[in-house]
Amino acid sequence: MENEIEIHRLFEDLNSAYGFDFTEYAKSSAIRRVSYFMEIHKIPTLPDLTRVLLRNENVFASFVQEFTVNVTEMFRDPGFYESLRANVIKKLSSYPVIKIWIAGCSTGEEAYSTAIWLEEEGLLDRSIIYATDLNPRVVFMAKKGVYNEELMQLYSKNYKEAGGKHSLSDYYRADFGSVIFDNRLKKHMVFSVHNLVADTSFNEFQLILCRNVLIYFNQDLQNRVFKLFHDSLCTFGYLGLGSKESMLFSDNRHDFVEVDRMRKIFKRRY
Ligand SMILES: C[S@@+](CC[C@H](N)C(=O)[O-])C[C@H]1O[C@@H](n2cnc3c(N)ncnc32)[C@H](O)[C@@H]1O
Repeated sequence: MENEIEIHRLFEDLNSAYGFDFTEYAKSSAIRRVSYFMEIHKIPTLPDLTRVLLRNENVFASFVQEFTVNVTEMFRDPGFYESLRANVIKKLSSYPVIKIWIAGCSTGEEAYSTAIWLEEEGLLDRSIIYATDLNPRVVFMAKKGVYNEELMQLYSKNYKEAGGKHSLSDYYRADFGSVIFDNRLKKHMVFSVHNLVADTSFNEFQLILCRNVLIYFNQDLQNRVFKLFHDSLCTFGYLGLGSKESMLFSDNRHDFVEVDRMRKIFKRRY
């Protein structure tokens, strides 16, 4: 399809200009996101889009924002979090220091959810959560830990459904239509920009969560990222994926065992 070739060329140009490589993102969703961006910004053709993006860094930042879908929730898929607590978090108590990587953390909700689980299991004080994303704008927001108060209704419902022991409001304070999550959670988190396409591992972890990110990558890129995760986990370290993601076709599938097939939780074999 002509569009596919043109979009590939656009991605190559963006990679040369800005160092963001989208060439191995899944084609159908990439085409959809690019078309949507052109529509809302009234850009008629792909060569026009290429010119605008190469000329203007701010437009490129908006493009990254649009292209990398940032939808997230606290305790997203409560059944996943219920299983994570029972099958993973409780088992981490044998480690003197617990290191967790949340890859593709978006605005940070997943990192705060994980910190709350660690706190409720009495493990937060010896834990460090590294939360990373390729998009600097969402990393900035994640670091602040400030969310619209209206979101708390859904987040509290998720928390309760996942088996939360208290009230979610015990972990934040309200502030004129926003809520600010507590420093006692934040001080165990390190937020930074990290690109799964280009950057390497930066530590050894007991748990990696990378949920609803790989779904946007093609199979080759998914294979490379699974290898990166395998190399970044300690022996018997855990990996949690999104509900629509699978390791079934990955080159690394034999290096992991299933901990909870339905909830997409795996464990590094050796
Ligand atoms: C749909 S959100 C998922 C957020 C969260 N993990 C969740 O499940 O709720 C996908 C996130 O992946 C990030 N992302 C996309 N490509 C990435 C890459 N190459 N490296 C790191 N993060 C990436 C996006 O910026 C976005 O914040």
